[in-house]
Amino acid sequence: MKISYSGRADILICPLFEDKKPTIKGVDKKLFSGKAGETLLVPTDKKLYLGLGKKSKLESPDVRATFAKVTKSLMTGKYAKVGIKWEAALNKFAKEVLEGLMLSNHHVAKHKTGKELTKANDKLLKELIVSKDLKKEAADIVKVAEAVHYVRDLVTGPPNIVTTDYVANEAKKIARKHGSSVKVYDKTWLKKNKMGAILGVNAGSKQGAKLVVLDYKPKGAKKDPILLVGKGLIFDSGGYNIKPTKHIEDMQQDMAGGATVLGVFKILKQLKIKRRVVGVIPVTDNMIDADAQRPSDIVKSYSGKTIEIRNTDAEGRLILADALAYGVETFKPEYTIDLATLTGACVVALGDRYAGVMGNDKKLIGKLVDAGDKTDELLWELPLHKDFKEAMKGIIGDIRNADNGTSYMAGSSKAGAFLEYFVGKSKWAHIDIAGTAYVSKPKAHESQYGTGYGVRLLGEFLRSL
Ligand code: BES
Ligand code: ZN
Ligand code: ZN
Repeated sequence: MKISYSGRADILICPLFEDKKPTIKGVDKKLFSGKAGETLLVPTDKKLYLGLGKKSKLESPDVRATFAKVTKSLMTGKYAKVGIKWEAALNKFAKEVLEGLMLSNHHVAKHKTGKELTKANDKLLKELIVSKDLKKEAADIVKVAEAVHYVRDLVTGPPNIVTTDYVANEAKKIARKHGSSVKVYDKTWLKKNKMGAILGVNAGSKQGAKLVVLDYKPKGAKKDPILLVGKGLIFDSGGYNIKPTKHIEDMQQDMAGGATVLGVFKILKQLKIKRRVVGVIPVTDNMIDADAQRPSDIVKSYSGKTIEIRNTDAEGRLILADALAYGVETFKPEYTIDLATLTGACVVALGDRYAGVMGNDKKLIGKLVDAGDKTDELLWELPLHKDFKEAMKGIIGDIRNADNGTSYMAGSSKAGAFLEYFVGKSKWAHIDIAGTAYVSKPKAHESQYGTGYGVRLLGEFLRSL
């Protein structure tokens, strides 16, 4: 969506509050009272009246949702240029207004062909005309919304298109365009560097595993970076512990953590983030063939610790183990944050409203939770009790990737406890986005399937440092 500061709109959004009973010329008072969410389209005047309820009751998530619904209602193909008549009372919600309008301006029919695709594209709003006072904010939010849409398309995209090579190429494009450097390490490098945990997951795959490393180093930034690690699992069949029907068919979403990291690297420069940020994304699929890893195998991870494979479907923690150990050792970050669609247990516990967060540093977790509150990409802390770490100890090897028998109990925490073995002394937080990254029932500003959850959260977090 293009932003401009003057011109004639095809439709002008006119927000009105309930407090002073609004009167609209030529419209019966009974037709519009300004109640929250109420809309009245007057095509002859090219106006859409929008009720915002009582001024004192206005809250930022509701503002975002209200304006997101406006965009969705205007996506009929009739309106390319949309204007907004600014209300002073909206000043402190400018960000949410713009986010609502822009985040929802997206469609998922990307793999349709011919007229259907043209129609879906034509329905998108093309231009938003806003007051000059909002210039800086609008310029940032356009880029953030583009990054969110980009992540959605990657996460929703099918695994025969969004392959390991595809993700690696995207990382290269992003680095080139948005001011970072990038390295894509292939399977030979992974073998040489003894990343046995990633290689084990990749053993049944026809696609080569990769480790993507992005580095954003703005001038004057101190050396120790913020390390972002994202699970880039192209498709999770479960491996020999194969996933059943109803659990397997949307498992292309399993690279959402990695996609989110890529999305963040699209906005770092635009948001003028002053810290060095390093992104590490282990990329592979989890497939089955004669070479595939078995439950009962033992792999040696990059850290040197051996891992008993108790369940081939607990593969995310394995690829993260090597990526975390490598990232922490190589870059000595001030903070390490990993994002992963890691456990079904997190979906059960928190649904699609909160992602789970856990880690070894209360201050870091606090900062992330605050950023979540500001962006409405909410986080809820889950416990990392030492007993969970104990439960992940191996019997014939050092650690196991799933505990026997009771792996359904505190599943998200145990996955987190497993990861903790690989972060050394780094201040670290793990964000389980299994419930929030991909949804069948989207919220007002979201699309069906990939949500792009996490880009705004991390953008806000990095800005706050
Ligand atoms: N990718 C899944 C987790 C998942 C589930 C993501 C639902 C999104 C939606 C992960 O690799 C997995 O299979 N985890 C297992 C772990 C278990 C075997 C210990 C799970 O949650 O069942
Ligand atoms: Zn799995
Ligand atoms: Zn998985």
